[in-house]
Amino acid sequence: MAELPELWIRRERPEDAEAVFAVIEAAFGDRSVAEFAEQIRASADHVPELAFVAEEEDEIVGHTMLSYVAVEGLDRKLLVLTPMSVRPDRQRTGIGRALVQASLSNADSRGEPLVLCEGIPAYYPRFGFRSATALGLERPDERIPDAAWMAVPLRSYDPAIKGRVIYPSFFPPPPGA
Ligand SMILES: CC(C)(COP(=O)(O)OP(=O)(O)OC[C@H]1O[C@@H](n2cnc3c(N)ncnc32)[C@H](O)[C@@H]1OP(=O)(O)O)[C@@H](O)C(=O)NCCC(=O)NCCS
Repeated sequence: MAELPELWIRRERPEDAEAVFAVIEAAFGDRSVAEFAEQIRASADHVPELAFVAEEEDEIVGHTMLSYVAVEGLDRKLLVLTPMSVRPDRQRTGIGRALVQASLSNADSRGEPLVLCEGIPAYYPRFGFRSATALGLERPDERIPDAAWMAVPLRSYDPAIKGRVIYPSFFPPPPGA
């Protein structure tokens, strides 16, 4: 069996910006999601401690970040995991898993109650994500498929945290909108 390259998950640094852009563009097949990540990074809701890159042999091969979104009627913000990208030639080798696990454990250590995600329903439940609607967190837009609208409760989860999530205006519109 071929030896796998060593995988590092570390915090994103300012000098990673270009490589991160390229990974996101390659994963999604266009620039718009990479530009979206730049908008998050430039916003007040960006959390530099919760943006991660996956590195193999000094190359950035994956990226994800957690940023804050508001909840109607709530005086605290919640984290959302978006976007999430692995370079196509390195997908399905566990890099996505390592990035999600690093994100969740760091959010948990900070005392965050949960992490939201609008994502692939067949992928995220393995990390503990489940229906956010069932937890009382309504979709920011009802055109987001309910199956894609997920959250994972962390150790500081509080069931009193409920309400409609409000995305910042620069978040992409729901699929098909
Ligand atoms: C989705 C993504 C982040 C997963 O990262 P990854 O490193 O490939 O995933 P992992 O290696 O940790 O996990 C692999 C397992 O997850 C599942 N999986 C991966 N991508 C999947 C997808 N698009 N749909 C359903 N299941 C998927 C598979 O079961 C796979 O196991 P397999 O090897 O038995 O097929 C990556 O494929 C990607 O960047 N895709 C393009 C961009 C994207 O869709 N981002 C997420 C938007 S929510």
